[in-house]
Amino acid sequence: MSSKRNQDTSKYGKAEALATTGLSATTASNGPVGAPLAGTGVVGGSGAMFDAIAERYDFINRLMTFGIDQRWRRLAIDALEAPAGAKILDLATGTGDLAILAARRIEGCTVVGIDPSVGMLAVGIGKVKAAGLIKRIDLRHGDACQLEVPDHFVDGVTMGFGIRNVQNRAKALREIARVLKPGARVVVLEATEPSGWLGLGAKFHMHVMVPRVGALLAKAPQYRYLQQSVAAFPAPKRFAEIMESSGLHVIEVRRLLFGVAHLWIAVPSGDDSPQPLQA
Ligand SMILES: C[S@@+](CC[C@H](N)C(=O)[O-])C[C@H]1O[C@@H](n2cnc3c(N)ncnc32)[C@H](O)[C@@H]1O
Repeated sequence: MSSKRNQDTSKYGKAEALATTGLSATTASNGPVGAPLAGTGVVGGSGAMFDAIAERYDFINRLMTFGIDQRWRRLAIDALEAPAGAKILDLATGTGDLAILAARRIEGCTVVGIDPSVGMLAVGIGKVKAAGLIKRIDLRHGDACQLEVPDHFVDGVTMGFGIRNVQNRAKALREIARVLKPGARVVVLEATEPSGWLGLGAKFHMHVMVPRVGALLAKAPQYRYLQQSVAAFPAPKRFAEIMESSGLHVIEVRRLLFGVAHLWIAVPSGDDSPQPLQA
């Protein structure tokens, strides 16, 4: 932990505050390096990939999930159990849905949202302004693996449908553990492979319908990536183990709608890990 980080307690960090400085496409950088998408030269899951679908992202999300995605985001915010006036960090904030819900559901809280996609942030900033929340929500360009946030600084971290796109997930999770105050929660919401008989319909929807409808309405390779990245994501129990080995203690894993999505709720493991016996 750098002492510079520890000293900077006046704000969340030094990342460029897009909400106040405006956006410039030239400041965009890709997120983590994954496999390039066929025919696009763009890295799957990167900020540049999301730039390409930013304008239609919300519309297609609601369409594909029949609006259930917003219910899941509300569950995620409530699972934070953050106090009034909390400082919340929303990683992979995208178009800001979780940030806006946090501001609406947690009294007097302030939210910083971080994302590498300038296109997604631009849509998000428009939504924040329209919601009259610009004084409480600050959307910034950045990477979950390198947070310009002091140690033990925030009262809650959310990450919705984002961790799947981060190549070095352990690094992002360690950063989350570092910036959380003792006892404060992180809630990770992620799409997962549905399971069981009842999940078969959902599986068909995700593997057949989502890429096709996505291709029709937006960019084909990007929506194929979304489906493939869900299939490649670790099983919920395995992901909980990755969290556990990255400085977090998982207190609950919640299965949503036949396993189409999961919520992982955790605290920094320093809080309640068994203390060594004193001699
Ligand atoms: C599927 S969107 C989710 C957006 C939003 N959280 C939501 O609930 O709709 C995934 C987001 O992850 C972002 N992302 C990709 N790599 C990232 C990284 N290394 N750090 C932070 N965000 C990242 C993308 O730019 C994209 O906006």
